[in-house]
Amino acid sequence: MNRSHSRRDFLRYAGGAAVLTALGGPMLSACQSTAGPAIATAGPTPTLQSSLTGSITGGSPLKEFNLTTAVTPIDLGTGEFQAWTYNGLPVGPEIRVTEGDRVRITLTNNLPDPTTVHWHGIPVPNAMDGVPKMTQPAVQPGESFVYEFEASPAGSYWYHPHVAHQLDRGLIGAFIIEPKSNPGDYDREYTLVLEDWATVDGGGPAAVNRMVNRDMAGMMGGMGGMGGMMGNMMGGVAANDPNAPLVEPVYDAYTINGQVAEIAEPLTAKQGDKLKLRFINGSSGTIYDLRLAGHSLTITHTDGRPVEPFTVDVLRIAMGERYDVEVTADNPGRWQLYALTDSADDYVTLGTLQYADALASGDSGDNVPQNIRWNDLTQMTGAPEERYPASASASDRVVFDQTLSGGHGSPLWSINGQIWPDTDAIVVAREQPVQFNYRNQSMMPHPMHLHGHFFEVGQNGVRKDTVIVPSHGLVSVRFVANNPGDWMHHCHNIYHAEAGMMNVVRVG
Ligand code: C2O
Ligand code: CU
Repeated sequence: MNRSHSRRDFLRYAGGAAVLTALGGPMLSACQSTAGPAIATAGPTPTLQSSLTGSITGGSPLKEFNLTTAVTPIDLGTGEFQAWTYNGLPVGPEIRVTEGDRVRITLTNNLPDPTTVHWHGIPVPNAMDGVPKMTQPAVQPGESFVYEFEASPAGSYWYHPHVAHQLDRGLIGAFIIEPKSNPGDYDREYTLVLEDWATVDGGGPAAVNRMVNRDMAGMMGGMGGMGGMMGNMMGGVAANDPNAPLVEPVYDAYTINGQVAEIAEPLTAKQGDKLKLRFINGSSGTIYDLRLAGHSLTITHTDGRPVEPFTVDVLRIAMGERYDVEVTADNPGRWQLYALTDSADDYVTLGTLQYADALASGDSGDNVPQNIRWNDLTQMTGAPEERYPASASASDRVVFDQTLSGGHGSPLWSINGQIWPDTDAIVVAREQPVQFNYRNQSMMPHPMHLHGHFFEVGQNGVRKDTVIVPSHGLVSVRFVANNPGDWMHHCHNIYHAEAGMMNVVRVG
């Protein structure tokens, strides 16, 4: 029951997944930037207040928000670096509205580069989807853009730019749409936004890549003639090729709501409480295998859509995915929220659950069950209202293979051998039932995300907008193309997307 015993068990059952690290716990809070570097302070995630709550024609409340991007010096505990932020926060403010609200968000861009906001998972009208050149012109430095849409359906979502690797610099935030009725019966609710950070060498993907490239170049130089070949094999390591796509940086900090575990305020509970945790993975390159020591997690929603409650010991969550879980506080103590990594033989602690009535001296030891229960989507069932309409029957469905390739010596990633932007659009009629068969021919997992729609994973009504396609795995999803427009479809490892793993679904 000590942790290293548990870890070995865990890794044995986990198999080789991609990833990761870390998990965390506390509700975090955020930093404000003033003159100096922002310092994370304990406290709840700030919720962005709407500046106006009025009524529009038709009677829906209108809620207005302002988001301002900027370069902000931040210190997460690894030294100051230049984060790119919404409203000066390492993780942007939570936007929380009620289903059916009309939402108007004014983005003001104070970054040196053009940007946009994409409302990940919310099926907004195409013109509000935040994809530059496709759904809107990018918002130039010093300029503003107004997004407006109806907040629906209820669920846990998030927002981020859709420009280059910007979201790996800190530009992420939670977007929660509460149900109009029947919000669930919880004593406490926490939104937990996971983020991986590259803070060395000034911060940001390019800086870190430059550093990696320099180091690799130095190392290769020492290996004589191997240098060129090895550089090529590493993909993107060509230090002197300015056109090579960036590779994932070496992440050196993991946060929940912008705070590392060491300084984050614990999640709190009283014995007997029922907690609702909304996990949102806003990372760019990290899949987490999350474990709340001493507790199981009961999944109630996948990417915002309700499922029949499904209890797990470990929750795997990839970039872009959200899971709402319930935790019954029935085991007093002080427990770590942590993630396992299979690349380093270690845990990453992301946070702590502290019972109000338990002594705060030291963490309680974990006891991971022998047969670990996972969030295996094939074992889960959607809520009855999520099950697929009969109109999506096999006979009308058009099927597209989506073969995912890359690695193996190439710095590029492809779908069906095509590299964005040199890709064919997937053209479907409005209301057409569609099936995608993902076939992953690479050695990395790819969390595939479709804009503007929810898809069903498998055939049991589990709906999502982002699904992990494991290394050498096959996954099928189906959806009804009911939202007209051009919609991005891509891997949510932002380095893979930017190195070609994107295409477009055109709904007529
Ligand atoms: Cu999180 Cu193209 O999106
Ligand atoms: Cu990928």
